[in-house]
Amino acid sequence: MKILLTGAAGSIGRVLIPGLTDRGHQVVALDRVPVPDGFDGVWHTVDCADPDAVAAALDEQPLDAVVHLAGHPGEASLPESLTSHVVTTAALLDAMVEQQIPRIVYASSNHAVGRTPRVESLGEDLGVLTRPRPDTFYGVGKVAAEALLSLYVDRHGLDAVSCRIGSFLPEPETVRHLSTWLSHDDCVRMVEASLTTTAPGYAVLYGISANTRAWWDLAAGRALGYEPRDNAEEFATRVPDRPQDEAEAAFVGGPFAGEAFYRPALDRASV
Ligand SMILES: NC(=O)c1ccc[n+]([C@@H]2O[C@H](COP(=O)([O-])OP(=O)(O)OC[C@H]3O[C@@H](n4cnc5c(N)ncnc54)[C@H](O)[C@@H]3O)[C@@H](O)[C@H]2O)c1
Repeated sequence: MKILLTGAAGSIGRVLIPGLTDRGHQVVALDRVPVPDGFDGVWHTVDCADPDAVAAALDEQPLDAVVHLAGHPGEASLPESLTSHVVTTAALLDAMVEQQIPRIVYASSNHAVGRTPRVESLGEDLGVLTRPRPDTFYGVGKVAAEALLSLYVDRHGLDAVSCRIGSFLPEPETVRHLSTWLSHDDCVRMVEASLTTTAPGYAVLYGISANTRAWWDLAAGRALGYEPRDNAEEFATRVPDRPQDEAEAAFVGGPFAGEAFYRPALDRASV
């Protein structure tokens, strides 16, 4: 497949580009930062919130799919979050409809359901049909981006897979990560399955590895062909206990659900 991958300079993009290329896909990179030294593929320096620039970049080559990673992976004001996650997704979707690019794989987040009390899901893994329950304005942005994808699937017949990624890291670093970790190799497997599964329509999966301590349901991902192979438990003896582990276990979103992240939705010049 020929794939446009946004957020190419980021931590996930830098793993997916070689991972998808090794699996026989052709990746066209896009990021708002300039091409990094040594990158030898096609690179578009574009802000995904600019619809004209996005349309022009997508128009430069025929494409089979878009993998949309570009966005700020943390908390911000509400307008910043909406621009970073919703406006960027909208610009890509409009260009995809115009140019008949049939599929998008979206880097959503566990923070779309991060305010779900974890106790509610114990004994029954958290499913993808749980109500949207963001823990931050970041999570609100992800919920809204997922809703937008669903709308474009229904209106225009696109295929879209929202991957609610847990903790993408070389290895787990905290007790929470023993449940939420997504290994580099499983991330490549997850995105490839989302790109190649037959006619998913609009689908959601949890982007975690096959962690012994997982409490998010992997069935939806498996139904799309995502078969994770790594397990955070292999690193458990190296993970230190910390005083905040218990508080981080209270909600799906861990620390993002805590009061440290409470802030007004809008930045005011006078404050
Ligand atoms: N890393 C994780 O554990 C994790 C977990 C859940 C979800 N996600 C989501 O995955 C995506 C990628 O995360 P990451 O960890 O690679 O983040 P990152 O910050 O390492 O990379 C993001 C990249 O996107 C680019 N970017 C940001 N806004 C842009 C814009 N408007 N136009 C073009 N490029 C833009 C940045 O320049 C950067 O290169 C994000 O959407 C994030 O919310 C990540």
